[in-house]
Amino acid sequence: MEHRIPDGSEVYWDGLHYDLYNGEPPCDLPFYLAEARKAGGPVLELACGTGRLTIPLAAAGVDITGVDVAAPMLARARAKAREAGVGASFERLDMRDIGRLRRRFGLVFIAFNSLQHLHDRASLERFFGGVRKVLAPGGRFILDVFNPDPRCLVREGDELLPVSCYKDPATGIGILVNEQYSYDRKAQVSRIVWHYKRGRGGARRRRLNLRCFYPAELEALLHYNGFRIERVYGNFDRSPFSGESGKQIVICRKRALRPARR
Ligand SMILES: C[S@@+](CC[C@H](N)C(=O)[O-])C[C@H]1O[C@@H](n2cnc3c(N)ncnc32)[C@H](O)[C@@H]1O
Repeated sequence: MEHRIPDGSEVYWDGLHYDLYNGEPPCDLPFYLAEARKAGGPVLELACGTGRLTIPLAAAGVDITGVDVAAPMLARARAKAREAGVGASFERLDMRDIGRLRRRFGLVFIAFNSLQHLHDRASLERFFGGVRKVLAPGGRFILDVFNPDPRCLVREGDELLPVSCYKDPATGIGILVNEQYSYDRKAQVSRIVWHYKRGRGGARRRRLNLRCFYPAELEALLHYNGFRIERVYGNFDRSPFSGESGKQIVICRKRALRPARR
């Protein structure tokens, strides 16, 4: 399958289709802009996709680099930045390998649930180790992921639910996207299939895999991978996180790691 990313997801096969699918963007831009302005140094956005946040942040004067593993998403990001006359820089890189970057950043962030594309402990350890390495002294790391709701996770089976519709940019024909959902309880991964149905024709299927991070699990992962949590919000309006929050928005800094005792 072309353009499959490391966790097997296939929905990032085309940046324009991805943007059209999403339609109304989430309201996270003012939050990330305020955080970028506090950074006092260059900013690194991980899994930046089509530059939805990278480009407006660069337009606002932030020195920002976006990295992503999916070439079609980056192609669209670069085209949008050119069109807007904005000087954001983009690099194709698996986010588990960012430790290779030479630059150091005052803020590193990963938005819009993108961390949920890392499913196993080895990937997460490599990723967090890389974030620690590229953070400048005193720098901050911010991530946002869903707050898993067990009531939603039990939705199972072959049922198809409509989740988006837009016009095919090439033909003008309407595309209806239906979602098929199942939850892998062992891996804690939502296994989603989007069926893109063009007019009366057949449907093209693309997989999307998203790992769930429960709040206490996320806190432990961050702690044991060398981060101190400063704040957890439940919404981009900075309301405090509660069990009912839809999001976990976590702001952290590096903490000193003691060498293991023998
Ligand atoms: C939900 S999209 C979010 C895009 C963008 N952050 C936004 O807010 O619009 C997730 C992005 O994560 C990227 N991604 C997934 N796994 C990755 C990996 N291992 N390394 C780098 N990028 C990855 C995908 O290619 C995709 O662009």
